[in-house]
Amino acid sequence: MVDLNKLVRENVLKLTPYSCARDDFKGNTGIFMDANENPYGKLNRYPDPYQRELKSAISKVKGIEEEKIFLGNGSDEIIDLCFRVFCNPGVDKALTFNPTYGMYEVSGSVNDIEVVKIPLNDSFQIDLNKAEYRLSDKNLKLIFICSPNNPTANSMNFKDVEYIITKFNGIVVIDEAYIDFSEKLSFIKLVNKYSNLIVMQTFSKAFGLAAVRVGMSFSNPEIVKYFNKLKPPYNISTINQKAVLEKLSQIEQYKRQVLRIKTERERLSAILSKMNIVEKVYPSDANFLLAKVKNADYIYYKLVNRNIIIRNRSNMIDNCVRITIGKKDENDRLIRALKSISI
Ligand SMILES: Cc1ncc(COP(=O)(O)O)c(C=O)c1O
Repeated sequence: MVDLNKLVRENVLKLTPYSCARDDFKGNTGIFMDANENPYGKLNRYPDPYQRELKSAISKVKGIEEEKIFLGNGSDEIIDLCFRVFCNPGVDKALTFNPTYGMYEVSGSVNDIEVVKIPLNDSFQIDLNKAEYRLSDKNLKLIFICSPNNPTANSMNFKDVEYIITKFNGIVVIDEAYIDFSEKLSFIKLVNKYSNLIVMQTFSKAFGLAAVRVGMSFSNPEIVKYFNKLKPPYNISTINQKAVLEKLSQIEQYKRQVLRIKTERERLSAILSKMNIVEKVYPSDANFLLAKVKNADYIYYKLVNRNIIIRNRSNMIDNCVRITIGKKDENDRLIRALKSISI
């Protein structure tokens, strides 16, 4: 059992958080003369700082208690909060398995935290031998594991990840931004077993609300308490909370869209695999495909000229491009454009 009080930064332990007017009163009706708001209008009141109604709805969909849920202005806010709660600038370190989502490193740099990178093996899995000796570094406070991983599209082996959680005396953050597109098990249930585990998910992908900026984390309630201490008081606007609530009331639509995206993913993967300019399409548990091609720079440039924008990931993985699954007609346009390219 990890002692969270020993992991949290001294200044965070001592910090007295900002106290919002609405911290003291929880009802919706009354004459509100406590927060210097304008009494006129429809959006004149500050949002609920703890998003109680929304967390209650998420709790039912995800099958996890409300006190274990934290909501951020996108997962990106939660990544930043992990650094700010647990890592002393200029002293502590975080670990990632690369190639992976770029925000862990950017957020580490913003917070003056060294991010140690261990390369994934040839199957894009964690190399436990390489990871093991890092786990005892007393300045290593955070490990980010992206599963399904961006940009490799695969999920990490469940047993390897659980091994790391059990062996590491710091915090393990599992980023499940793409979990809805995967058949593999989520790590969410392990939050009840391991106090050092944070599982992140987002409304930006399968729920189709990237513009709304709401990311979720699931963890021990103690961690939620520290995130709440540091976050800006009103980090999720009322409009955005309502947008997510509305989406959660349309679960059937979400399921249909996920199914459609997965079906298109398999169709596109099969067609790309047969093309001359494509060397390999990697298996995907996400809403994108990673493909090794003959000349990624050239293909990227040719597609941009036809107003089709994919992601050139050659700087991370030799000659690889990442293609987000679009609607059927968009995927068809991409296929036609690719078929017209000769290398
Ligand atoms: C692995 C991963 N995590 C998180 C995010 C961002 O999530 P959010 O929109 O909730 O900030 C992305 C976005 O591409 C991602 O690929």
